[in-house]
Amino acid sequence: MEKLVIEGGKPLSGTIRIHGAKNAALPILAASIMAEGTHVLENIPDLLDIHVMLDILRALGCKAELRGDKVTLNTSPIYSSHIPQELMKQMRSSVFLMGPLLARFGTVQIYQPGGCAIGERKINLHLQGLQALGAVVEEKGNTILCRTERLKGADIVLDFPSVGATENIMMAAVMAEGTTRIFNAAREPEIVDLQNYLIAMGAKMIGAGTDTITIEGVSKLQPVSYKVISDRIVTGTLMCAAAATRGSVTLENANPAHLTSVIHVLKRAGVQVVSQGDVIQVTCPARPKAVERVVTSPHPGFPTDLQPQMMVLLALADGISIIKETIFDGRFKHVEELSRMGADIHVDLSSAFIRGVPRLYGATVESTDLRAGAALVIAGLAARGTTVVEEVHHIDRGYDRIEVMLGKLGANISRCPSLSRKTLLS
Ligand code: EPU
Repeated sequence: MEKLVIEGGKPLSGTIRIHGAKNAALPILAASIMAEGTHVLENIPDLLDIHVMLDILRALGCKAELRGDKVTLNTSPIYSSHIPQELMKQMRSSVFLMGPLLARFGTVQIYQPGGCAIGERKINLHLQGLQALGAVVEEKGNTILCRTERLKGADIVLDFPSVGATENIMMAAVMAEGTTRIFNAAREPEIVDLQNYLIAMGAKMIGAGTDTITIEGVSKLQPVSYKVISDRIVTGTLMCAAAATRGSVTLENANPAHLTSVIHVLKRAGVQVVSQGDVIQVTCPARPKAVERVVTSPHPGFPTDLQPQMMVLLALADGISIIKETIFDGRFKHVEELSRMGADIHVDLSSAFIRGVPRLYGATVESTDLRAGAALVIAGLAARGTTVVEEVHHIDRGYDRIEVMLGKLGANISRCPSLSRKTLLS
């Protein structure tokens, strides 16, 4: 187990290039299964979750290699549609493989991914969507088996614009017979990227980025080369880090259009954000101001994946801010850790009441999940003294060597092996 050691109090400064988007790359890697042959995917980040997805693809028979930011996949040898339980347990996103495997083999076996640190994460909408397309779903214990003779297009109304369910249904529908319309679809930029990849492979579809996606099934897809979009959550994390340390940072290979709601909140907090093309410049010359209310919601609303990071900025702001989390029911685990660093935050059900303090103080804190971990790193960068962030493996799921990234911006941060608390006590 590794930990990050941060000497805080230094404003971030400099320029950095944003890596590719994990949440776009994962469904795109899954979708590649549907076209036999060699795919080349670029701007793929070197992250733990990406490695797990590549291991799953290999377990199904695919040849997969990651070199730099490029993945080469030969999907022709894939023979299995059974995702091994051990790999399924490591990453919920393995559910993305249901749609593509059903489309290619007419059968798929997975295991219930269960809940996780940020709350209950059901897959009922994924299963309902696949059933509407003609799949028969059998659940035995925690095993889920889906089968179909032939997927058939249908009208599907999602009760909630789930990102994963929208993606799974899009992938299954691409090779179904006839027309599928997904109503109340998720509108995240990663959905648009998936549509662009599917269209490049020969799919006929329109509407991603709006709440209705229409797909006309085709009988065959072709392998292609494709470049994945940049990571808006990494971009937003670095924007919050620049602001919390009262620094000045330039982010390249970013997409400001993907972060409109985040830029809006930063500006309300008094942070200067200037963007031109794919470059965003963030400067925070003075103590940030409180923001009365930030509510997480599906895109284009404020992203839940940036809620913990924004909370750190508001914990240092002048005044009282409120953050309401509406997407996940357990996404305030960072609050307890931030309190140990001197933050004044009170949680009542799904709302966090944040009374800004002039400064945070270094402490040993535990990263409980990916974005909570990123928030603790930001808190450590802004705090006076030394912060130790434990359980770094959570952060490695979504940030490519965060200590190197932040080191380039002048942060004093290093990664060290960590002894577990149990070992220390024995
Ligand atoms: N939900 C259901 N039933 C379903 C699916 C979802 O009730 O069948 C509920 C979930 O329990 C949750 C809400 O709907 O309360 C949102 O879930 P959604 O399906 O939209 O999320 P996801 O597809 O599981 C993706 C991202 C998450 C991000 C969410 C929300 C990927 C790989 N993951 O998850 O990213 O938080 O959308 O934007 O795309 C992260 O990167 O840290 C991360 C957690």
